[in-house]
Amino acid sequence: MASNTLNESKQLATWYFTFAFILFGAQLLFGLVAATQFVMPGFLFEILDFSVARTLHINALVVWMVFAMFGSVYWLLPDETGINTIGIKMGKLLYWIFVAAIAVVVLVYIFVQVGPADETTIWFIMEGREYIEAPRWADFGIVVVALGFVANLFLTGMKGKQTGIVTVLMADMIAFAGLYLAGMFFTDNISIDQYWWWWVIHLWVEATWEVFVGAIAAYGLITMIGAHRKVVEMWLWIEVAMLFGSGILGMGHHYFWIGTPEYWWEIGALFSALEPIPLVAMFVHVLYDWGKTQGAEEEAGNSASVINNKPAFTWFVLNAFGNFLGAGIWGFFHTLPQVNLYTHGTQFTSAHGHLAFFGAYATILIGMMYIAVQGKNNIKVLKNTKSSIWAVSMIAGGVMGMTVALTIAGYVQVLVSRAQMGATWAGYFDGQAGMWFAQGMDWRLVMGLVTFLGFLLLAKDLLTTGKNPVHER
Ligand code: HEM
Ligand code: HEM
Ligand SMILES: [Fe+2]
Repeated sequence: MASNTLNESKQLATWYFTFAFILFGAQLLFGLVAATQFVMPGFLFEILDFSVARTLHINALVVWMVFAMFGSVYWLLPDETGINTIGIKMGKLLYWIFVAAIAVVVLVYIFVQVGPADETTIWFIMEGREYIEAPRWADFGIVVVALGFVANLFLTGMKGKQTGIVTVLMADMIAFAGLYLAGMFFTDNISIDQYWWWWVIHLWVEATWEVFVGAIAAYGLITMIGAHRKVVEMWLWIEVAMLFGSGILGMGHHYFWIGTPEYWWEIGALFSALEPIPLVAMFVHVLYDWGKTQGAEEEAGNSASVINNKPAFTWFVLNAFGNFLGAGIWGFFHTLPQVNLYTHGTQFTSAHGHLAFFGAYATILIGMMYIAVQGKNNIKVLKNTKSSIWAVSMIAGGVMGMTVALTIAGYVQVLVSRAQMGATWAGYFDGQAGMWFAQGMDWRLVMGLVTFLGFLLLAKDLLTTGKNPVHER
């Protein structure tokens, strides 16, 4: 069996990817439940309430991405550093602790859906923090696992070859893990609470996770199309500088209406408006490197493609587009306080949330899973199959469809609830009673089903393509 000879770090990576993928499936199922409840409010009433389905949907999202990010690092570490990952046994043990903790937390959410909001709840049920929901005991467990992961990365990175990619990842992962602490302490003032909570949410997705994507894109381009390390790493440093430059103060776009001082309007407006620039740079980066490699091949007289993993490359290119569209364009739409006054907390936000998380992170992490399938099965050139093509088309088409439906629904809310009715209680309900809103919710459900069918095909492809004889070995 090929997996017996697989480097231990890469083996651990495949474990991380596997659990990530299962959680991805769970995320979509809970999303479908929540979307059905928008259309049929009585669906699963008091069995799996909307609040619980939604919590599970968005927390599974964050957790599967964190798992796949850890997996990506364990996968590339031996390639980049040229040595075996140090402390891998501890890494493997922590993996099982992580999986067990997540499983317990999910079961508790499903079995304990209502209860008092007191100290015991915070310790054993949940803390009430959207996206990073966890009982406190699990929070401490997550910190221990994250420290172990960072230790693996640092010990290996310091001893092995120090490429730009590894150096950036080392700095980035310390920030990524450290920021988690900002979401762990409890205050009974909701403004203060939200203030710190955004340090995790915004500074993750718009700073540390984006830098992570830059590093993974660099690694992927080198592995898949043989891009020149010098060029790729030069871009990486530029992106890191820009991402941190705009992303950190860009946090102000979440401080407009939560009771923070008014100077955040100007700071948030300016810096968050600059945020799409590094996303354009990342977009150009992928296409430029691709073009450059293709050009060099043509000059050398090779007409054959040089991409050694077609499905992964498709997902990486989709990442460049998706990040730019979902975070850059859909984010920019509502980032100025003058606009956000009307769009804040509408389905428009949800449209942006879906396209950004999908475009910027789901895509590239799925790409990394294909790179792992290729490596695990010793495949020289991994080709597309019917299911890989249908999977990517249905998933990307489905999410784009949901985004359009949500954008239209949000538009109705902006016009009716906010502009016309002045954000009153009655306006809130009138906005949702409109025909366009209702149809938007129907289409979101339909497109969600398309996405889920695409997911099933993706599962089939990832599980079977490694043994498919069409690939070059
Ligand atoms: C990949 C990167 C990004 C991801 C994953 C992401 C995701 C999200 C999510 C999930 C929310 C909703 C948060 C909540 O539940 O309250 C949100 C809100 C927001 N995002 Fe992003 N975002 C990204 C990048 C950006 C960028 C680059 C901009 C601006 C150019 C932006 C502007 C905003 C704004 C203004 C809000 C607040 C919406 C409101 O007031 O309701 N985002 N983002
Ligand atoms: C089967 C496909 C999916 C369906 C049916 C679905 C449905 C839903 C529903 C009903 C909500 C609650 C919205 C609300 O509270 O108004 C939601 C929230 C959310 N979903 Fe999905 N979803 C799906 C796939 C995805 C994917 C692929 C991603 C990202 C990779 C994602 C990311 C999110 C985020 C970030 C939120 C919170 C948005 C916010 O509050 O602004 N979902 N989803
Ligand atoms: Fe943000």
